[in-house]
Amino acid sequence: MTFDLFGDEPRTWREELAPGAVVLRGFALPHVDALLAALGDVTAVAPFRQMITPGGYRMSVTMSGCGRYGWVSDHSGYRYDPLDPTSSQPWPAMPESFHLLARDAAAEAGFPGYEPDACLINRYVPGARLSLHQDKDERDQVAPIVSVSLGLPAMFLFGGLHRNDPTVRIPLAHGDVVVWGGPSRLRYHGVLPLKEGCHPLLGAERINLTFRKVR
Ligand code: SIN
Ligand code: FE2
Repeated sequence: MTFDLFGDEPRTWREELAPGAVVLRGFALPHVDALLAALGDVTAVAPFRQMITPGGYRMSVTMSGCGRYGWVSDHSGYRYDPLDPTSSQPWPAMPESFHLLARDAAAEAGFPGYEPDACLINRYVPGARLSLHQDKDERDQVAPIVSVSLGLPAMFLFGGLHRNDPTVRIPLAHGDVVVWGGPSRLRYHGVLPLKEGCHPLLGAERINLTFRKVR
């Protein structure tokens, strides 16, 4: 636990959720300026877009991505693709600031040497939600998911390994990082509809960066 009562550093603390799963409160706060600048560069090349689920629904969350692979959903299913289907070009490289934060957070959570090769970027506006799901399209299902919250707060649902297992509700604020890997890697999770609000840096939106090791 880091608890800097007297310095200028923002306070961070950890909340264990389950074996291999932890919330690192405020962990991304010292990185926010760099993350937002890099986010602007990434989304200038790979703009946010609404993906279609294999069942034909338009997702309420808009998505972008960076790194060697991007997560893509369309009528044919979910997959990781080295090319952005919107531009037919490779996804933007993962910015150094993204990579460093993901590595640091994973190490802090007990997963040293984390080398994510994909970062999915989710943008939520009020009302947008993500239904309960597992992240299971990655070949590596032990390396953790590192999930960084920026902007408006959201209610994260964290469940078990089966869809009907009970879920806990975890409020996530700007700068919080959730890490789940090892025995928790395939836990179901989701996000309740975003509430209206205005964040001083991001306005009426929430950005979530989720890092994965795909290959
Ligand atoms: C995700 O499961 O991909 C995103 C979770 C979140 O937005 O907090
Ligand atoms: Fe997910």
